[in-house]
Amino acid sequence: MENMDALDELLICRLDQTRKLAEPFTLVIFGASGDLAARKLLPAMYQLAAKHQLPASFRIFGFARREKNDDSWRSEMKEAVQKFSKTPVAEETWVEFAGHLHYFQGDLGDAQAYAQLRARILAPAAEPSQRNLLFYLAVQPSQFGEIGRQLHDAGVLGKTGGVGESRRLVVEKPFGQDLVSAKKLNQELVRIAHEKQVFRIDHYLGKETVQNILIFRFSNGIFEPLWNRQCIDHVQITLSEKLGVGTRGGFYEEAGALRDVVQNHLLEVLSLIAMEPPVSLDAESIRDEKVKVLRAIRPILPIQAAGNVVRGQYIEGSIDNQARVAYRQEAKVDPTSNVETYVALRLLIDNWRWNGVPFYLRTGKSLALSASEVRIQFRPPPHVLFAAQCGPKLDANAITIRLQPDEGISLRFNGKIPGSSMQIRPVLMNFSYQGEFGAYTPEAYERLLLDAIVGDPTLFIRSDMVEAAWSLMDPIREAWQGCPLAASEFYRAGSWGPTAADELLAHHGHAWSNPVL
Ligand code: BG6
Repeated sequence: MENMDALDELLICRLDQTRKLAEPFTLVIFGASGDLAARKLLPAMYQLAAKHQLPASFRIFGFARREKNDDSWRSEMKEAVQKFSKTPVAEETWVEFAGHLHYFQGDLGDAQAYAQLRARILAPAAEPSQRNLLFYLAVQPSQFGEIGRQLHDAGVLGKTGGVGESRRLVVEKPFGQDLVSAKKLNQELVRIAHEKQVFRIDHYLGKETVQNILIFRFSNGIFEPLWNRQCIDHVQITLSEKLGVGTRGGFYEEAGALRDVVQNHLLEVLSLIAMEPPVSLDAESIRDEKVKVLRAIRPILPIQAAGNVVRGQYIEGSIDNQARVAYRQEAKVDPTSNVETYVALRLLIDNWRWNGVPFYLRTGKSLALSASEVRIQFRPPPHVLFAAQCGPKLDANAITIRLQPDEGISLRFNGKIPGSSMQIRPVLMNFSYQGEFGAYTPEAYERLLLDAIVGDPTLFIRSDMVEAAWSLMDPIREAWQGCPLAASEFYRAGSWGPTAADELLAHHGHAWSNPVL
C-alpha cells in the first residue's frame, strides 16, 4: 500500500511538472456587470487564488458601462462569489483577493474608453510583470468583432506584445451562428491576433469528467482494444436539463438547442469519445485528432434531416411537483415560436474505426432529469449459451461515463443471481469521483481560466473545429427553416422529450437509456 502511495505521488508529480506556472498577469473582463462574470468567472478566480494557483502579482479589471467604482464592484462581486462559489468564502482570503479587483467604466463602442484602458493597464508605473494581458469577452457574440478591433486600434492587442509579454483574447460561446458568420469572425480575429492568441471557450472541456475521457481511453490498456466497430454497437450522448430557458428567452429565441448545445458541447464530447490517439499531448496534436472526427461525420443533408434528426419544444407540465409553463409562454419568447428546445440526432462517422456505428446525441430543456452522460453500448455476444434461462437476448454490456452529476464511470455486465437456479441479470461495477477523490471537483472555469492565463490552448476550440461543427449544423437548420413544429414535436415538461426521438432509435433496433440518479 505504501508503495502504491509512493507510486501515486511520483505519477502526480510527473504530471505536475508538465504544467507551466502562471506568470503575473492582468485580466480584463468585458461584460463585468453580466451574469457570467458573477456566476462563473469571479468565483473561479477566487477559488484559484484561495488554492494559491495564481501568482502573487495579478490584476483583474471589470470593464462595463454602468457607473461603479472599485469598492462597489468589489462588494457586488463578494456577494456573487459567496452565492456561487462551491466552497465557503474565507474573509481573510477574500480581503487579499479583493485588493486585486478594479473597475473600469466604459462604453464598448467608444475608442476613448480603450485609450483610457490602455493608459491604465500599461501605465509606466504598472509592474512590468503585469503587462501580460488577457481580455475576456463575456459579452454578446455580436460585440466580439468590435471589441477586438478597438483593442487592436488602441494598441493593446497586437500580434506581438512587448518583449516577453503575452496578449490573449478569450471568447465565449456561441462563436458565430452559422458557418458563414463563424468564418467571418475568425477572419476578423486573425487580422488582429494570431490563432494561438485566441482562446475560444467551450466550458464542457473544462469539466473534470470530460478531461478524464482522454485519460480513461489512453492511459488504460483494457478499453482501447474494444473501442471500435468490432465491439461497439452504438454510442449515446445525453445532455438533459430540468431547467427551462428561464430568463434567457431572448437569447434562446436566436439560438435554439442545436446552436446552444449540439454544435459545441455535444460535438466536443463526441470528438473526445471517437478520436484516434494523438501522437503526443501537445495542444495541436489533440486538436488535430478531434477535428478529424468532425470531418469524418457524414453530413445530414436537408432532405435527410427528417430521418436522422428530431426536434422538439416543451409544453406545460410539471417537474419535481412544480408546474412548468410551455416554452411559448416564457418571458421574451414569441408565443408562436418554432424554436427547438430539444434535439436528438443520429450521426455516422465514416472512418475505419467507426464505420456503421451510430452515435445518438440528444439534449433538451425542461426534461425529466438534469444529467450528462455518455453510454457506450457493446455488441451482444455472438452466441447465447443461456437462452433457456434468459431468452435469446441478454442485456447489453455498456460503459457509462457520467459527466454530471454523480460523476463517475460504470461498467454494466451480466451476472448470476445467487441461488440454485441459473438466473441472470445485469450488475454494475462503479467508479465514483466522490467515493474516490472526495466531494470537491473544481469548476470548469477554474481550469479554463488558469489555462488561458498560462497560455495552454489544449482545452479551447480551434477555428477549424468551430467551422467543421457549424458545417454539420447548417444543413439541419436549413431543413427546419420555415417549417412550423408539428404536433408530434411538442413534449411535456418533465418528460424525456418527444416520442419521435424514441422512434428514431427504435427504427434502428435501439432504445435510449435514460440517466438515473
Ligand atoms: C450552456 C448553454 O453553454 O451550457 C446552456 O448555453 C446550458 O443553455 C449549459 O444550460 C449547460 O451547462 P452545464 O455545465 O450546466 O451542464
